Amino acid sequence: MLENFEAALRRSNDLIQSGLEDRLYSNYSAELTTAMRYAVAGGKGLRGFLVLASANIHGIPEARASRPAEAIECLHAYSLVHDDLPCMDDDDERRGQPTVHVKWDEATAVLAGDALLTEAFRLVAETPGEPRAILRLTHSLAMAAGAHGMVGGQAMDIAAETAEVPLSLDEITKLQAGKTGALITWSAMAGPRMAGADTAAMKTYGDALGLAFQIADDILDVEGDAATVGKATQKDADAGKATFVSLLGLDAAKVRAAELVDEACAALDPYGADVDVLRAAARFVVTRNK
Ligand code: IPE
Ligand code: IPE
Ligand code: MG
Ligand code: MG
Ligand code: MG
Repeated sequence: MLENFEAALRRSNDLIQSGLEDRLYSNYSAELTTAMRYAVAGGKGLRGFLVLASANIHGIPEARASRPAEAIECLHAYSLVHDDLPCMDDDDERRGQPTVHVKWDEATAVLAGDALLTEAFRLVAETPGEPRAILRLTHSLAMAAGAHGMVGGQAMDIAAETAEVPLSLDEITKLQAGKTGALITWSAMAGPRMAGADTAAMKTYGDALGLAFQIADDILDVEGDAATVGKATQKDADAGKATFVSLLGLDAAKVRAAELVDEACAALDPYGADVDVLRAAARFVVTRNK
């Protein structure tokens, strides 16, 4: 089952990446275009996959869902380029390659991130379909990406590094729901949003998946092999990051991640057996080694 899932993930990522090769460019700067394409390439493509899969189960064809899938991968790539900057997590390696500010310079990394964020909204606005559905997608993407979502969570993450009192479990859950969960939940909800269908089940699925995903990332920071993960490991504790691992320890963090996978799968029950690929995605999130 997981092998099938990984093949499906690769297929959707190839589709998204080839779309982006056509669509990411700048008439102003060849260097900017090169840096944007570099930043968007080489990831697992999980968020874009979730957009295509959730669209598919709501009867939305790939041709309509590919723009929002491309958009979320651009937005995610921007979040990583900025996350890696010296003023944030200060990382030199991402996806097994030098980070954008190392390969070029900080100005290029800031600008490539700015452009990817903005292009994400351009791509969502180009989604074929009913205008109200596109407005729902666009507005919800802004909520997921900005101060109410990813950027808000990143602000909590950076503040926690120097906080005098360690964050509580509720605070860490909120931080992670913002910095990581919001984009993952948006991806899972894209299908019902495009279809004008009930979003509740996919929201529960996405929230559980997003939290499990970040717990797995925090576990990989401790236990992962840097060459396989494609980024530096063993950094979070020294940086004072607030994570499930820092608060609960590795074993309890693993138990919580497994419970969240079960919650994510249970949320899919109303869809029956047609969504096994999304159940496989939930299991992949905590068993992955990169
Ligand atoms: C890394 O996300 C950042 C986190 C939110 C933990 P991914 O593990 O999805 O990164 P790529 O896109 O596959 O490189
Ligand atoms: C990053 O979380 C989440 C983002 C919004 C980019 P991390 O800082 O833990 O992600 P990695 O470990 O650098 O990929
Ligand atoms: Mg970070
Ligand atoms: Mg980081
Ligand atoms: Mg991490």
